[in-house]
Amino acid sequence: MRTIDWVNGAVEIIDQTALPGELRVLRLHTVGELIAAIQSLAVRGAPALGVAGAFGVALAARVHHDDPVALAVAVQKVETARPTAVNLARGAQRAARMLPYGPDAVLAEACVIRDSEIAASQAMAMLGADLVTALCGERPRMLTHCNTGGLCAVTIGTALGVVGELHRRGRLGGVIASETRPLLQGARLTSWELTQWGIGHRVAVDSAGPFLMARGEIDAVILGADRICANGDVINKVGTYSHALGAWRAGIPFVVVAPETTVDLDTPSGDLVEIEDRGAAEVTAFGDAVNPAFDITPHDLVTAIVTDRRVIRLDRGEKP
Ligand code: MRU
Repeated sequence: MRTIDWVNGAVEIIDQTALPGELRVLRLHTVGELIAAIQSLAVRGAPALGVAGAFGVALAARVHHDDPVALAVAVQKVETARPTAVNLARGAQRAARMLPYGPDAVLAEACVIRDSEIAASQAMAMLGADLVTALCGERPRMLTHCNTGGLCAVTIGTALGVVGELHRRGRLGGVIASETRPLLQGARLTSWELTQWGIGHRVAVDSAGPFLMARGEIDAVILGADRICANGDVINKVGTYSHALGAWRAGIPFVVVAPETTVDLDTPSGDLVEIEDRGAAEVTAFGDAVNPAFDITPHDLVTAIVTDRRVIRLDRGEKP
């Protein structure tokens, strides 16, 4: 089943706010509905956001094809619905380049973007599984953070796609999903996907990750990215940096798996990226809170980045 698709004139998504309790499909007919779904994280994860951005422009093109001002406003709203994952604006901008050719051309381009994310997931699963086996040997015990399975893309996913491929090859020694506070993408979504795939796993609280690494219970950390900067800094779900520090201290590989659509060579380093602040309410109903949704992992803590075309060995001085 695809996380996001175009079906009979509307965008269909799996509503990730309802999982794991209910597998609910939402049909989105308007740009406003799509933006609300992006902002509530009903659809989330960098590759899926790229596809959502492109389909958002396709929706806008159908409604506003004879009103260029309204169309431009709608496209801008889609592009900026969330700030951190570069895929969203990229997907929207790429689809928007087809606007002069009419709504059908925009939709066709959005479908190409969808299909290329599926192909990228397949490629990353293979490249990443080869790399993990080369770095860690047979049956490594992996720790992953946030959700990087089919739910973050169209199908298969990024880092979790590598875990799935290792499992398929009989070369997975175990997997721990860190729960990913405050919205629990790990405990709710990764755990649900691993169960669907028939992969036994355990969930750990986020703060346990570095300790489990120090105790020798993890052989590699594998996770995704929302943006990879030109110097290799990795923007990903908050908590990623702590896991990178834990991996560095424990001397185990820290591998980032993301499609080329997440590599942002126009941004030199992570400190230049807007980190989404999702407000206090998601963290606590009492008092004040700070709730950055992503963090920046410095490039010198990353062993390798796996995209759909390359393995970039940052530990050997290579750059994206
Ligand atoms: O806030 P989210 O759930 O959209 O954040 C998603 C992540 O941080 C993922 O780890 C990231 O998009 C990688 S999935 C390729």
